[in-house]
Amino acid sequence: LQADLNTFLALGVHGATVVTAVTAQDSERMLGIHPIPAQTIAAQLEAVFSGLSVDAVKTGMLGTAEAVVTVAAALERVSRDIPVIVDPVIAATNGARLLSPDAEALLARRLIPRATLVTPNLHEAAVLTGGEPAPNEDSMKAQAERLVERGARAVLVKGGHLPGPDAVDIFFDGKSFRRFATPRLAVRNTRGTGCTLASAIAAFMAKGSELDEAVSKAKRYLQAALQEADERDFGTGAGPLHHFCHWEGAP
Ligand SMILES: Nc1ncnc2c1ncn2[C@@H]1O[C@H](COP(=O)(O)OP(=O)(O)OP(=O)(O)O)[C@@H](O)[C@H]1O
Ligand SMILES: [Mg+2]
Repeated sequence: LQADLNTFLALGVHGATVVTAVTAQDSERMLGIHPIPAQTIAAQLEAVFSGLSVDAVKTGMLGTAEAVVTVAAALERVSRDIPVIVDPVIAATNGARLLSPDAEALLARRLIPRATLVTPNLHEAAVLTGGEPAPNEDSMKAQAERLVERGARAVLVKGGHLPGPDAVDIFFDGKSFRRFATPRLAVRNTRGTGCTLASAIAAFMAKGSELDEAVSKAKRYLQAALQEADERDFGTGAGPLHHFCHWEGAP
């Protein structure tokens, strides 16, 4: 949520949050997870959707099956004109599970059909399509196709965890593929790349970009935030990337 809100602020949009779990974590350890009761999640959704005119939605860690169902049910009632970016968070980089196993199938069945874009990393794409993590771009394309068959309007399979000189993401909208590649930066502070990317896509869509244009701009913003990430240090481990970096499109 903190990376999401920093991204929204940096890109000039107002973010409102629905907290699905309180976590205690640093870059290396998960010290505790307290899931928020479904009733409280539903009340927050009601507050946001009845009190604000929402231009885009981004989901992140949902945690439990009840949270998935509660969020999906609320989004089913929201106008189809509002883009929904689903970051299907299943595990953290520090290894902690962020979605209970019984919720995986529900995420695929209830939330993915409402998604304007789903942004799985290699591990999440494998879980959601029932296969192994893609070892190459052809497999990433095949998994993207499968997720569109499952009802997503478009998919961005993120290849941050594939080795190679470039970080390559594969985009598929049911008609054509686009390859988004940026030089892989050897920085230490990479915490929150996935959250930042999905939030930036939602922010650009809220400001009126078409989906593929929003992905392209978000990749450029992420690259800038990574480029300057090591200019400051907050402690041990992989610190946060630099949301308030110098960026060509800064508001
Ligand atoms: N070292 C890097 N340099 C440039 N881009 C990167 C690097 N690592 C990842 N990326 C990009 O960051 C985005 C997130 O990719 P990744 O595959 O790491 O997702 P993730 O595992 O969901 O991230 P997170 O662990 O933050 O949730 C993608 O656009 C990916 O290409
Ligand atoms: Mg992620």
